[in-house]
Amino acid sequence: MKLLAAAVSFIIAAEGASIETNVQSLLQQVIGFDARSKPNILFVITDDQDLELDSVAYTPLIQKHLRDKGTFFRNHFVTTALCCPSRVSLWTGRQAHNTNVTDVKPPYGGYPKFVDRGFNDNFLPVWLQEAGYDTYYTGKLFNAHTIDNYDSPHVNGYNGSDFLLDPYTYAYLNSTYQRNHDPPVSYEGQHTTDVITKKALGFLDDALEGERPFFVTIAPIAPHSNVDPSAIETGEITMGAPIPLERHQHLFEDVKVPRTKHFNPDEPSGVSWVRDLPQQNKTVVDYNDYFYRSRLRALQGVDELVDNLVKRLEESDKLDNTYIIYTSDNGFHIGQHRLPPGKTCGYEEDIRVPLFIRGPGIPEGHVQDSVTTHIDLAPTIFDLAGIPPRSDFDGTAIPLTLDFDGLRHEHVTVEFWGKAVMEGSFSAIGPGGSAMIPNNTYKSLRLLGEGYNLYYSVWCNNEHELYDLSTDPYQLYNLYPHGAQTDDGEPRILGRSLSQAVNRLDALLLVLKSCQGGTCIEPWNVLQPENPVRSFRDALDKHYDAFYRAQPRVSFDWCAAGHIVEAEGPQVPLTTRYGISWDNWV
Ligand SMILES: *[C@@H]1O[C@H](CO)[C@@H](O)[C@H](O)[C@H]1NC(C)=O
Ligand SMILES: *[C@@H]1O[C@H](CO)[C@@H](O)[C@H](O)[C@H]1NC(C)=O
Ligand SMILES: *[C@@H]1O[C@H](CO)[C@@H](O)[C@H](O)[C@H]1NC(C)=O
Ligand SMILES: *[C@@H]1O[C@H](CO)[C@@H](O)[C@H](O)[C@H]1NC(C)=O
Ligand SMILES: *[C@@H]1O[C@H](CO)[C@@H](O)[C@H](O)[C@H]1NC(C)=O
Repeated sequence: MKLLAAAVSFIIAAEGASIETNVQSLLQQVIGFDARSKPNILFVITDDQDLELDSVAYTPLIQKHLRDKGTFFRNHFVTTALCCPSRVSLWTGRQAHNTNVTDVKPPYGGYPKFVDRGFNDNFLPVWLQEAGYDTYYTGKLFNAHTIDNYDSPHVNGYNGSDFLLDPYTYAYLNSTYQRNHDPPVSYEGQHTTDVITKKALGFLDDALEGERPFFVTIAPIAPHSNVDPSAIETGEITMGAPIPLERHQHLFEDVKVPRTKHFNPDEPSGVSWVRDLPQQNKTVVDYNDYFYRSRLRALQGVDELVDNLVKRLEESDKLDNTYIIYTSDNGFHIGQHRLPPGKTCGYEEDIRVPLFIRGPGIPEGHVQDSVTTHIDLAPTIFDLAGIPPRSDFDGTAIPLTLDFDGLRHEHVTVEFWGKAVMEGSFSAIGPGGSAMIPNNTYKSLRLLGEGYNLYYSVWCNNEHELYDLSTDPYQLYNLYPHGAQTDDGEPRILGRSLSQAVNRLDALLLVLKSCQGGTCIEPWNVLQPENPVRSFRDALDKHYDAFYRAQPRVSFDWCAAGHIVEAEGPQVPLTTRYGISWDNWV
């Protein structure tokens, strides 16, 4: 193929433009032939589905088709726990600090910001079409993609699309979808999951009939909260429990939110506004249990949708050459740390999401422990499609096969800007009875390696958190104050004092909060390119104590609602690069 392409460009150069048309059609035949051998990809992305609260245990068909027939990535994380930023990161392979789509609406986020930043011409479906794929999408793409702005411009990159539009995106019984370049259509009175199931199967049929390999994405809104569109018009928006299909309304009567140690605890935990949350009374706890059951019920429609999609693939002759990827845009908490239902936090509930992948060569019933993130998914799809990775990818292809020999990483960079959003009937806990709490701006680091399991965060008011999840899986005991004050006290991390550990974590976060491309994937290489340091464990070596003590610290100058670099303190770490002698640090 390469040889032929080289020969073809030689002919063009030698013979001039007249021959070009013939050559192009010849090339197209060859590329078309080449493209047919590429695998198909079916991508299902739910909205706000948790991993930690056990939602997958209530979806038996997803377990049967995806977990048992594929690989479960049990350490999969999002990089921003909010729909729109997380989705833009997912479809571009870049951290939110590099997309600068950091919120659900302008000026810092939403569909208009995605367009302004040029991503409508430069995101996964566009790249896949260029690589020979037919692409289809139905469901929610981004927030602030509305009945008013859907055609200015239309979303690029899809052969077929049918998008949910605001303000009807989350109205389970009053949704509006917008197909290709047609005007929006209201499905008032129908259940959104029924609507999307028909659309999804229609696009899958189109894709199966096509000549080229396909990339089909199905993005149902379950189990996201229900939002009444008329409430948006009056400004009194509440995010209520999701509405299941009628046949699922009475399931799981006795099911409650798991009563883990961090469920509505007697002692407050966390920092900033989380630490001020009051303990929830019985009325609120009962409501939260109802909210939890509603989510599980709403997910049943998705479970059946996945079953229908897999059956349709089975009936075709293409299942053997199709990868199925299942995940969610961010996680969800209900009652942990006394929180009302919602996301936007850096806790495990919010940043861990399900990820199942099945397909040719992927081990069945396998559990993969490697750390993977949403910004790794675009690189992974490139890998599956045989496209070389882009240099602006902040993530790297994830290990799909047992003999995977690509790059792995032990870190997740978690970032957030702006408001925390409370959901449900008891959400009015912000300033002036609002469901929004400002200054939920933080940078954090989730780190899982051999012998350590840590979460480290720096908030915009310069409060810090450090949880050692190997001893404190529920993130109740903030070790940071000790780390800041004492050098010899217990507990220790990998045998080193907390302050030595924090010095490394902080330097790593300093690199990651403004990393780009390769530096997001191999951050230690920025700090210590001249030393054999590839992990937190390596960096903890006593020889490097002075070097890490001398680093500038991650800090904020003020709490900004978006990615305003001037508010975000030091940007550049000390490095052993640029001929600085190692002896300076010893
Ligand atoms: C899908 O769109 C691409 C890009 O416009 C085009 O080349 C391809 O032929 C389309 N496929 C179908 C089945 O129309
Ligand atoms: C659907 O939304 C429209 C516009 O807000 C409203 O007028 C109508 O009553 C809603 N229908 C239902 C069934 O909620
Ligand atoms: C429980 O707490 C909620 C939210 O603060 C409050 O509205 C409600 O009145 C309380 N119920 C009782 C019985 O105290
Ligand atoms: C939020 O942060 C800003 C800027 O740092 C500060 O002026 C304001 O008082 C903070 N608001 C709250 C509710 O903490
Ligand atoms: C991100 O977008 C906001 C809003 O447009 C802008 O003020 C800010 O400077 C941008 N940040 C970067 C790093 O470009």
